[in-house]
Amino acid sequence: MTRTRTQVGIVGAGPAGLTLGHLLHLQGIDTVVLEDRSREYVEARVRAGVIEQGIVDLLTAAGAGERLRREGLVHHGIELQFAGERHRIPLSDLADGRTIVIYGQTEVVKDLIALRLESGRPLHFDVDDVSVHDLDTGRPLIRYRHEGRDAEIECDVIAGCDGFHGICRPSVPAGVLSEFSREYPFGWLGILAEVAPSNDELVYAHHERGFALLSLRSPELSRLYVQCRPDEDLAEWPDDRVWEELQLRLGLEGWTLAEGPIVEKGVTGMRSYVCEPMRYGRLFLAGDAAHIVPPTGAKGLNLALHDVQVLAESITHLVETGSTTGLDAYSDTCLRRVWRAEHFSWWMTQMLHRPEEQDAFDLKLQLSQLRYVTSSPAAATALAENYVGLTSL
Ligand code: APR
Ligand code: PHB
Repeated sequence: MTRTRTQVGIVGAGPAGLTLGHLLHLQGIDTVVLEDRSREYVEARVRAGVIEQGIVDLLTAAGAGERLRREGLVHHGIELQFAGERHRIPLSDLADGRTIVIYGQTEVVKDLIALRLESGRPLHFDVDDVSVHDLDTGRPLIRYRHEGRDAEIECDVIAGCDGFHGICRPSVPAGVLSEFSREYPFGWLGILAEVAPSNDELVYAHHERGFALLSLRSPELSRLYVQCRPDEDLAEWPDDRVWEELQLRLGLEGWTLAEGPIVEKGVTGMRSYVCEPMRYGRLFLAGDAAHIVPPTGAKGLNLALHDVQVLAESITHLVETGSTTGLDAYSDTCLRRVWRAEHFSWWMTQMLHRPEEQDAFDLKLQLSQLRYVTSSPAAATALAENYVGLTSL
């Protein structure tokens, strides 16, 4: 058994764990990052791709935004489509000039891994049997197996950045955390296709056959989604059927959706979930480990990075002053933004998706809400400021 010590043990090398490791590195704070998947797997996983300006600024200030600045596509608006018409929401005009940047989470992760390796600080992939112990003491421990050997790290603080299915949250004793959740009867079938995006801006489409989304990754790569069942069998979705469905749901007179080779296809379930508090003793949960949002509204990555920004500041305060004031406020500070995003993503989801058997009254309400949001500057502003990310909460 190898025994080591670090200041902060970080479980999970997704955007949350990697960003936290990097922000703490900049403060001269020691961390060990443990990831149970391989580097190849983590760098190939296709996830969302809309980054709020505040998060772009965070990554840039941390020296992690170089490629993001070069390759990211700055967007000033999105479009909502319903009843056969497209309506633009001018995000930047409505939200003090703020923008969003289209840049894949996969690329953010690659950039952060490269920075970590450059820093020379430990990042272990392919670790097994990760477990956390002594969380309610001042010296919490992480145990794991790596390259055939058992290892133990003594930490000052553990950051649980291991996503929704990780081991950190379930390691908290029963009865400590309160959980709040909502399941949706929908999923998203997403594709990545080698074809120039057919629209300059994202299109969120309400359609009688179900929701569809036109998004992109680059001037040559389109990202598109169709609403499906949460347990949809991909085998029932050959490429032709995907395009046919996208054509029907996004179709508009005088506009064509260009098709191209599909290079990735997957189904994501949709769920809202929050656990409170985002802490137990010296274990702090961040990102998907603590909360999940449905993808409508693209808040998952942004929330995860907001969490670790607060956590890095709180840990730095502890290291510099010995005071736990920042850490004691961590959960409440994060949860204010988390619940705003929970509401926004739930609201976008219920406005745009069609349940299999939709009540006629509910449909009328959806259409009325869409008309309101696309015609009233007040309503559109509420959407816009949430979409680009609220600056004060
Ligand atoms: N030990 C070590 N690592 C683990 C373990 C474990 N027991 N369990 C899970 N992990 C790893 C996962 O393999 C993953 O790489 O933790 C990482 C968690 O990363 P994400 O799931 O990407 O979560 P997070 O960093 O919080 O980022 C949130 O990811 O799911 C999207 O929509 C979400 O965009 C949001 C973002
Ligand atoms: C994406 O491009 O993957 C994307 C965009 C907007 C969303 C969700 C996902 O709301």
